[in-house]
Amino acid sequence: MDIRIGVIGAGRRGWLAERAHRPDAGARVVACCDLQDPVLAECRVRYGDGVLTTQDYRVLLDQDLDAVFVTTPDYCHEEHAVAALATGRAVYLEKPMAISVAGCDRILAAAKASGAKLYLGHNMRHMPFILTMRERLRAGAIGEVKAIWCRHFVGHGGDYYFKDWHAERRHSNGLLLQKGCHDIDVIHWLSGAYSRRVHAMGDLLVYGAVQDRQVPGGPRPVIEDISTWPPAAQTLLNPVVDVEDISLMTMQLDNGVLASYQQCHFTPDYWRNYTIIGTAGRMENFGDVDAGTVIKIWNTRAIGYRDEPDEIIPVSVETGDHGGADARIVDEFLAFVRDEAPASTTPLDARQSVAAACAATESLRNGGRPVDVAPPPSP
Ligand SMILES: NC(=O)c1ccc[n+]([C@@H]2O[C@H](COP(=O)([O-])OP(=O)(O)OC[C@H]3O[C@@H](n4cnc5c(N)ncnc54)[C@H](O)[C@@H]3O)[C@@H](O)[C@H]2O)c1
Repeated sequence: MDIRIGVIGAGRRGWLAERAHRPDAGARVVACCDLQDPVLAECRVRYGDGVLTTQDYRVLLDQDLDAVFVTTPDYCHEEHAVAALATGRAVYLEKPMAISVAGCDRILAAAKASGAKLYLGHNMRHMPFILTMRERLRAGAIGEVKAIWCRHFVGHGGDYYFKDWHAERRHSNGLLLQKGCHDIDVIHWLSGAYSRRVHAMGDLLVYGAVQDRQVPGGPRPVIEDISTWPPAAQTLLNPVVDVEDISLMTMQLDNGVLASYQQCHFTPDYWRNYTIIGTAGRMENFGDVDAGTVIKIWNTRAIGYRDEPDEIIPVSVETGDHGGADARIVDEFLAFVRDEAPASTTPLDARQSVAAACAATESLRNGGRPVDVAPPPSP
């Protein structure tokens, strides 16, 4: 019997659900909800004329479903996840879990009350370069981890995060949460602990000055144009831009590890660099989801700069979105729904990445003072 899937927010990220559409082979998308008629029309093309399409997620939840993908914008997650979980269906919820800690806790409570399965879409946990680094760290490649520093160069930031709802605090809270929750979660995962205390600084250094804005309520602009350069040449930004385009966050973790996450939306390139320092070495990735990505490990001392590491591990990057992570996460979700496999991200892990990001955002908007991260709720 196929797992019967409904999708709330079927366009853009919602097309992830198409990877689960395997009629008579284990799972099929049977219902789609989206506010845009063209997206619903495309759903009928991709999933067949038999698919139910609606603009009202309550109509979708009235259907005979086993699982629901919630792939709407961040500010809708709380409402849509709580409603779907209340019906007892298994839920795939995109990151970030919600845009506030209170929102996450409502989602956790809804899952607990109904007993529904909740799976969080932290696809970075399925990226080959992260899996390779984790495997080598667990094997003791650099001794005991003491520091993790992530530099996130968001070269397409002006295209993806400043032309729609992402640019508004009321919709995303901020990009430390929107984008950074991926890496905060990875930092927690690689170090084996959650952030306890954070502080951060940030600003809107480039995109705030861009005068070329959309007409409120006008059509959504074409998102990515690689020829746009420098970043201040961006056009058709969201009418309101009140999130930071650069932010620097430091974290003290429960196990004493010290970490940092730095995000910049006006770099020429787009990738993330993790530098991990242990009691017996240093590990670093060069490239992340593209072919040619390698992990380098230095275990012996040198005087001055040494490009050549003691060990170099090529990362086999798979084809497909996000270095193959999207195919893997959908496979894992379907196995999780069938009770065949555990999820590699827990709802609590996702909640703590939101909690750390919210605390850091509070810090950077209040002079960079240290902020304690909301501890996990009592079980
Ligand atoms: N894990 C990843 O790599 C990754 C990548 C991209 C986006 N995301 C996440 O996916 C989610 C969606 O992002 P996006 O960029 O596709 O957003 P989007 O603005 O394109 O919205 C996705 C779809 O939801 C629809 N929608 C919006 N509001 C709705 C509502 N109230 N009811 C029903 N449908 C609604 C939109 O019409 C659109 O088709 C976000 O939470 C984002 O953070 C995750």
